[in-house]
Parts: sequence; C-alpha cells; structure tokens
Amino acid sequence: MGENGDRHGCRRRLLSLFPLILCLLSRPSEAVASGAEDEGPSIVGYGYTVQSSTVDPSGATVSAELRLINGTSVYGPDVEHLRLVASFEAGGRLRVRITDANLTRWEVPDDIIPRQSPSPPPGAPPQQTLAPQPSLCRSQCRLSAANSSDLVFDLHNTTPFSFSVSRRSSGDVLFNTSASDPSANLVFKDQYLQLSSSLPPGHSSLYGIGEHTKPSLQLQPNQTLTLWNADIASFNLDLNLYGSHPFYMDVRSSVNGSGGSGGVGAGTSHGVLLLNSNGMDVVYTGDRITYKVIGGVLDLYFFPGPSPAAVMEQYTELIGRPTPMPYWSFGFHQCRYGYKNVTDLEGVVAGYAKANIPLEVMWTDIDYMDAYKAFTLDPINFPEEKMKEFVNSIHKNGQKYVLILDPGISINKTYGAYIRGMQADIFIKREGVPYNGSVWPGPVYFPDFLHPSSESYWGGEIKRFHDVLPFDGLWLDMNEVANFITSPPLNSTLDNPPYQINNSGGRRPINDRTTPATSSHFGNISEYNAHNLYGLLQARATNKALVNVTGKRPFVLTRSTFVSSGKHTAHWTGDNAAKWEDLAYSIPAILNFGLFGIPMVGADICGFSGNTNEELCNRWIQLGAFYPFARDHSSKNSNRQELYLWESVAASARKVLGLRYRLLPYLYTLMYEATTKGIPIARPLFFSFPEDTTTYNISSQFLIGKGVVVTPVLKSGAQTVDAYFPSGNWFDLFNYSNSVSTASGTNVTLPAPPDHPHLHVREGNILALQGEGNTTEAARRTPFELLVVVDKNGNSSGQAFLDDGEDVGIGGEGKNWTLVEFYSEKTGSGVTVRSEVANGEFALNEKWVIDKVTVLGLSDGGGFVAVEVPGLSLPLGKTFKLEVKSRQS
Ligand code: NOJ
Repeated sequence: MGENGDRHGCRRRLLSLFPLILCLLSRPSEAVASGAEDEGPSIVGYGYTVQSSTVDPSGATVSAELRLINGTSVYGPDVEHLRLVASFEAGGRLRVRITDANLTRWEVPDDIIPRQSPSPPPGAPPQQTLAPQPSLCRSQCRLSAANSSDLVFDLHNTTPFSFSVSRRSSGDVLFNTSASDPSANLVFKDQYLQLSSSLPPGHSSLYGIGEHTKPSLQLQPNQTLTLWNADIASFNLDLNLYGSHPFYMDVRSSVNGSGGSGGVGAGTSHGVLLLNSNGMDVVYTGDRITYKVIGGVLDLYFFPGPSPAAVMEQYTELIGRPTPMPYWSFGFHQCRYGYKNVTDLEGVVAGYAKANIPLEVMWTDIDYMDAYKAFTLDPINFPEEKMKEFVNSIHKNGQKYVLILDPGISINKTYGAYIRGMQADIFIKREGVPYNGSVWPGPVYFPDFLHPSSESYWGGEIKRFHDVLPFDGLWLDMNEVANFITSPPLNSTLDNPPYQINNSGGRRPINDRTTPATSSHFGNISEYNAHNLYGLLQARATNKALVNVTGKRPFVLTRSTFVSSGKHTAHWTGDNAAKWEDLAYSIPAILNFGLFGIPMVGADICGFSGNTNEELCNRWIQLGAFYPFARDHSSKNSNRQELYLWESVAASARKVLGLRYRLLPYLYTLMYEATTKGIPIARPLFFSFPEDTTTYNISSQFLIGKGVVVTPVLKSGAQTVDAYFPSGNWFDLFNYSNSVSTASGTNVTLPAPPDHPHLHVREGNILALQGEGNTTEAARRTPFELLVVVDKNGNSSGQAFLDDGEDVGIGGEGKNWTLVEFYSEKTGSGVTVRSEVANGEFALNEKWVIDKVTVLGLSDGGGFVAVEVPGLSLPLGKTFKLEVKSRQS
C-alpha cells in the first residue's frame, strides 16, 4: 500500500458511511482513464462543498471541512472528506493546505523543508469554533493579517466551494479557484489531485515551474509543464528534465483601481509554491493555471512580494537560503567527458597557462574511474600516485580539482563501496531486495538517501576516497535517478498510475529508465512519492560529507534538483548541444534557477553534445564568462573545445574572463546577498525594473546583480546585437566612453565585432573591482578599484563582502569577515565617495587597499567624462571620504 493513503478508498468510504456498493462500483481497475491519450487529459470534477468553517479568534487561521458533492470513478475514487486550513506565516506568506481529513498522506518530509505550522493531524476531529462567530463563515470566510501581510484569503461557501487570494492594498485577485468549467473543479483522489486557478490574461506574467528548456523565460500560454525528474538531455525543448520546482513568480502589469482600490502598480509581484514532490503536469493556458498531481497533498504557499526581490526573500525564507559558495568556485572551470589519462589533464592545464587564459578548476568525468565504479581510480590511465601528484601540482598553482560521482554502486562482491553498502543495508529495494538497475558500470544498486544511515555510508565513502585523492569539490550526475534499463511494472497502480503524467512529452511511463515507482525507501516510502527528492537528498549528504572531510565551505554541483536544493548545491543545466539555439536557451535556464533558489548555475560553455565551432565557442565564452558558474564541458564523441584551441576564442576568453576576474568581488558579494536574502546573482531585467513592462519578455539579456546588464550575441554571423536598455545612463564596461542614455527605456542596436561582448553598468551603482589574474588567488592579491557610476544627482551605492572565501559559514558572529558599503553624493562640481565599514579587521588583515577610484556619469558640459583618481591607498577596512571633481587636476 502506498503512503498516499487507502488507495482504493474503500476503507474511507465505509468509514464515512457511504454504501459499499458505491465503493465497489468505483474500483480503480474499472476506472483507469483513457484521458492520457488525449491532448491535455481533463476530468470533470464535481467539486466539494463547505460543511463547516471556522476562523480562529486571532483571525490567523481558517479551517474548513469539505465534503464531496458527487463522485467520479475516472482516475480512481474521490476522497470524500477533505480539510482545508489557511494560515499566515512568517514574512507575510499565506499557506493553504488541502488534505484528506481522515488519512495521513505522503508529504515532503519536514526535515527537508521545515514547516512552520503543521495542520491538525488527519483524523483529528474538526476544529471547534473557538469563539463562536457563525456569521463570519456563512457565505464567505475571510483571513486577513492587516499588520503583517498584504494578502487576503477568502473561502467562498458556494457550490462547489472555491477560495481566492487577493491583495488587500489593491484588491487584485492573485489566485482564484472558482470556475465555470467543471473540468477546472477541485479533484482529490488517492492518485490524482487537481487544482486550478484563473489568472488575468494580459495582466499577469509567469516565470518558473521547471526544469524545462524554453526559448522564453516568461511562460507562454497553452503548454503543459511536466515535473518528474528524468535523465532527458536539456537540448530537448519543453520536456521534463532533471529537476522539479513547482514554484512560479507572477509579475503583474498595471491595472486601474476599481471598487475604491488604488489599482495595481506595474511590477507588483507574488510567488506561489505547491509544495509537493509527486509527479505532476502543470497546465498553463494564459488565463488559468491547473495542477494535475499524482499524489501527496495540496500544500500551497503564497509569497506576497510585492517586488520580485521580496518574493525571493520570502520564498527562500521558507525553503532555505542558498548555500554559500567558495570564492574559488567563481573562477573558470574546464571539464570534458573523455579526458584519456593524467597526461591529458596535465596538457589541458598547461594549455591554459601557455595561452594565458584563467583556469581555476580542472574537472574529470567518469573516465577516471576503474570500470566506472564510484570512489575508485583507473589503475592504468589515472593511477593513484600520478593523480596525487597532479592534484598536488595544481594545488600549488592555486588551482582546484573536482570529480564526478554517480550514485549507482556497482554490484561486485570485491568492491568496498558495495560490500559496505550491503552491510549497512543501504540500497533502495523492490519486493524486499535491493533494486537492480544498470548504469555506466553495468548492474548497480542505488543508495537510499532517505535511510538514516545513508549520510554516514555516503560520507564514509567520500572520506575514504578523499584520503586517497584530495579533491576540492564533487559533481553529482545521473541522480534523477538515471537508469539504462526500464524494469517491467508490477501489478500496482504505483507503477501504472491511473493518470499518466506527460513524462518525456511522449507519455512515457514514469518508470521509464529510472528506479521503478514500486521501489521502496527506508520506512516503506515509495519511489512513487520520493522520486523527485533523490538528487536533493544526495546533494545534502554530499555537502555534509565535504564539510566533515575538508572542514571547508563545500562545493557540490548536481544535475538533479528539487525545491530547496540550493541549500546544499550548485546546478548546471545538463546536456545541451553545441548549437546557437542552445546558447540562447541557456539564458532563461540559468535565470529560472535563480528563481528556484539555486543562484550558482551555469550551462556547458561551447555546448556539450555535437561539435562546436570557433564562432559559436567564441560567442559562448562571451556569454558564459558571466554565468554565475562558468564551466566549459563537452561530450566524449565531440571535438575538443578548450578555449585555447582557437586564437580568436583564446583572445575573447582573455578579455571576458579578465573582466570576470576583475568583477570577482562583485560576484562574491552577490553570492553573499543570495545566501542571506535569496536574491539571485543572475537576474531577469524585471528584477531591477519591475515597472518597465518591456522587460517582462526579455530572454536574451540578463542582469548581474542590480546594475550590470549582459547583452550577448546569440546568432551566427551577427555583426550587431539588439539590446534593450531600461531607463538611465548605461556605460560600456569595456569602454567607458560608450554609453547609452534613455529616460524611459530604449532599444539600441550595438555593434558586435567578434571580440566585443557587451556589458553595461547602470548609473547609481558602485562596483568594487580587483585586478585580473589567472587564478582567483592571484586576482585577490591585487588592489581594489572602485567604479563609481553616479546618477544626475551624484548618487550611487554598492557594497563588498570580504572573507577568506572558504570558511564553512558566512558572515555572522565569530566569523572573520568585512562588509563595506560605498556611497556617493554630489558636492560642488563633483562627488564625494565614502564608505561605511562593518567588521573591518578582515580587510585590514589582508592589507587590502583601494588604489584607484573611477567615477562615471559626471559631465564636463559637453558630455560624460570618466574621471580617474589613481595612486590612492585607502584601506578597505577603514571608513574613508574622497572628493572627486568632474575635472581632476
Ligand atoms: C551525463 C552528464 O550530464 C554529462 O555532463 C556527463 O559528461 C555524462 N553524463 C558522463 O558522465
């Protein structure tokens, strides 16, 4: 029996005194729907009515008992008695839970995402009305926390019942489950849950719900977004990929007020999470969003915003803030599937050094393993002694080494990781014995990361391996889990659910090339329910293991993710292709992961599969140098694509990675902001310009932080590139005398010679820069420069967070760090630049000084002038004040 409850529902029906005959008539065996063969299967639901509803005396919680109006046998029998609880939580977020009132069902475990206020346990009697206020909930029950949230929840006692969430300040309705079409009614069955909300077409722009490859960041109407973690190459458009994130951000464009409300300002944003790990289809039509989920409960969170940044703060307050990343991980990474031996690795490191292109991290794919067994080294091509020498030598250069790890443990009685796994009884089971899958090494068992001993098992293996080879980070691949075989289904509705989600677009069964849904985890948790959590749990265990083993801030990169993975890991977008389209798709892909709370993200630079070419690789490094995570990676069967292989690419790489390394203090400070507030490093333009509706549908440019826009060339043969600049003065970071000025936003066609990528910094920002270097360590030894980009009033601001870059925690008490805030104000014919310092010791210990201040945005009457003040020696750990005139003598 699955944890979704009494699957056939008969017990429930008998308990609730419905006649047995009704139960038998609606047995799922007769009820398996054929809807899955149609385009967008739909079910006519009869909905539920409110039997009773109460508001607690503080007005913080609404509870309602819901009764089924009528049943339908499609996709199995309905749950007759539901409980809805709506309550306000921290940060003004609103939670609305709809559960089976009588049976406990599967939910994302609380230790993964700690919940604030669990609803009363199923089976508990309906809440008593604490203060009898029958009039409150007769036709409508309202929940409003005037002091702490702009959201209002209304329960409508209609037939069928519905609920809505709106803004108190404007009356704008954010979510509304009432529907004239019965196919949008609430449905709650053991293996099919459906909830639908209307959306105001033309007034709402949705972002998120992933992981999918899409040409556009803004969700386009009329599509089904399937969430079921799968080993599907990311060069496929629209298919479910490696991760599941049932979260969206809704950015509203302006509407005039009605009914006494003040109207909605453009850019007013909120977020919605359906916290559910089961497979699902999310159908977005433009005027509705409909969740079709195959298990669990309906646990919805509404994040009030109202700015996109505030939504991210509220969302990551619930799911957990992104884990801090080590400073070195912001350097450039080189990888390939197919490096032949240690000499090959050494050659690549030497190639970068010779070409004078920064290389921070060398990676090795599964090639290093002995017969593809995790935690082993190939004794011929990657022998232990040579590997140790190699890793030690790159460490001496200030470089790092990262290795791939796959979860499948080879079934081999002479292999330590297998023997210890069997002893700990750690593997996922099916029909009582370890489930036998097949991946690179052939037959494998998969560790069960829900097993209480999994962390000690996995951590123990990582430690053993680290004792052999002192790697600096780990790369988790194939963890959806990927399986090269599809095992035959058992006679179970877990392996054959009545509603088939649109897995792989072609409606492949959910068991396709993964662990079968009837496999079980510790505590009899079915794979059916926990499937989407595998990569998250593996990343959590790996993060902990690295902390234990290295004592340093861990770097984990994972392919498979779920809500809250950002607490443990970085992510790359998987197997893209060396094609121009994939270059473009990488922008919405990385921006989406910022919204999912995983800000350290990048795509394989120059493309993974297929042969890249000089022009594509050149343009790709010009963009990829500004991904938060910048790694060149390619497939075994494709041509080599290290950046030094073509002179034009090498020249571009020196230029753009030179700028990236100068921007390292800025990127690192953005990581600090991400880890403290959840705001992405790479952001859609609407984050800084929510009132500018033109930004809502931009997928070809992005912001780094609040003030730097990247405009990459995405087309072959392009001589120019089209850019949109929101209001303000923007300065070319490669040539300060190129600028774009616009009062309310403008489209500009920029020249795009092969060696000139476009990055512009906006007025109002101060960037802390350092010098170039071929490693982050070398760049960190250089003095700082402040780039002060003032607005017409002379104002600008920025900050720099500084620490040793590898301390396990970040900031906070007992840690050694410095945070410097920079400001400018108009004084006389110029500006005064000043700083405020918190915890200055760290910067003082490092003897860091600002040796140059450059001010952009001042005018000498004829246009902008860049004013440079070199030869300074301002200690970064001490507050300073510096006057800069528009003409320095
Ligand atoms: C699939 C991963 O997505 C890819 O990056 C890797 O190179 C191959 N597996 C081989 O390990």
